[in-house]
Amino acid sequence: MMSLMTWIDERFPASQLWREHISEYYAPKNFNFWYYFGSLAMLVLVNQLLTGIWLTMFYTPSAAEAFASVEYIMRDVEWGWLIRYMHSTGASFFFIVVYLHMMRALLYGSYQKPRELIWIFGCLIFLVLMAEAFMGYVLPWGNMSYWGAQVIISLFGAIPVIGDTLVTWVKGDFVLGDATLNRFFALHVVALPIVLLGLVVAHIMALHHVGSNNPDGVDIKKNKDANGIPKDGIPFHPYYTVKDLFGVGVFLILFAGVIFFVPTFGGLFLEPPNFTPADPLATPDHIAPVWYFTPFYSILRAITFDMLWVPAKLWGVILMFGAVGILFFLPWLDRSPVRSIRYKGWLYKAILAVFVASFLLLGYLGTQPPGDWRGPAALIGTIIYFAFFLLMPIYSRFDKTKPVPERVTK
Ligand code: HEM
Repeated sequence: MMSLMTWIDERFPASQLWREHISEYYAPKNFNFWYYFGSLAMLVLVNQLLTGIWLTMFYTPSAAEAFASVEYIMRDVEWGWLIRYMHSTGASFFFIVVYLHMMRALLYGSYQKPRELIWIFGCLIFLVLMAEAFMGYVLPWGNMSYWGAQVIISLFGAIPVIGDTLVTWVKGDFVLGDATLNRFFALHVVALPIVLLGLVVAHIMALHHVGSNNPDGVDIKKNKDANGIPKDGIPFHPYYTVKDLFGVGVFLILFAGVIFFVPTFGGLFLEPPNFTPADPLATPDHIAPVWYFTPFYSILRAITFDMLWVPAKLWGVILMFGAVGILFFLPWLDRSPVRSIRYKGWLYKAILAVFVASFLLLGYLGTQPPGDWRGPAALIGTIIYFAFFLLMPIYSRFDKTKPVPERVTK
């Protein structure tokens, strides 16, 4: 009798897909801690989609009812508080995971040839994720939702000539209100998640087409055995499914710990003004985005003076978008002959350390009101951020690299 699997395989390449992407996908045997975050990003994405669907069942997207509907979810809907905190904490964990995932790419040169498209799909994911998180934060229609949206949408007003028209177009009204909330809802729950899913599929397809990089940056396809299998490769399943499951376990413990004990994380994951309804007449003392946006928010505020006929506000907007845009060019800015930090010289190591420290400083400054030493510090952090990328074609060539081994080390 024909087995069910044969019946399916004759109509749909189920076994073939399983073999190509799971059981016979040969990944380098030396993956380390940094390689947990790709699978964890997928886990958090699924968490956001599922909890998001359940929230949508009870949430009302109207300026008059949104805030109350979230309170209803928190107090009256069974397990509603858990679903909501899984989603709001999930957003912060998404960014923790994605920032660490991007850091891995920086450490091991995973964006270098032939992985440029994996990186570019990743940058697009990052961009869409930021738009998704921004719009999601507006939905509860708390006071920080309202004023955060007000600040960010008004940035479009800095664009010459079309600025004011653009602001009205984005809001869908002359004031921030129902029309804005409704379109943000549509984008947040339907449009952007679809784009995000499509990009993640493209990201993984590109990865499986060229094969994974590894902490040594060695090309494992150069050393194959008689059967054409890389000598330094191991099948993704069972080896990395088991490794990733361990990561999932540790992650879920940390995730549950935050959800159950510190869901707002001291005002970092959900800010205090967002527990009061939106009030167009009461600006919060200090408007700041959620922590994952604060490095870019610092860059936005860094320029406080007009320069080269461009007003300060427009500089801020250009630099903030430029800070994300420049990431796309990384594969062509890096001229180092080696991929991994293990074989790079002290120059690159020192510059990367300064870059990471200054990015963290920008993140901290973005949570604080501007003023006194913080203004100049944000400016210096911004200069370091851009210098890291723009000067890379120079310093990555002068860096004294070490010889890369033929085979992976450990
Ligand atoms: C929803 C967000 C994302 C998901 C679900 C995701 C998923 C994955 C997965 C499963 C892998 C393979 C496992 C691993 O290497 O850890 C991977 C690899 C990779 N990702 Fe992502 N990713 C996301 C966002 C990003 C972003 C924002 C970037 C960079 C801007 C990025 C850059 C890369 C690179 C360069 C690799 C190849 C790494 C290597 O082979 O060393 N990813 N991604």
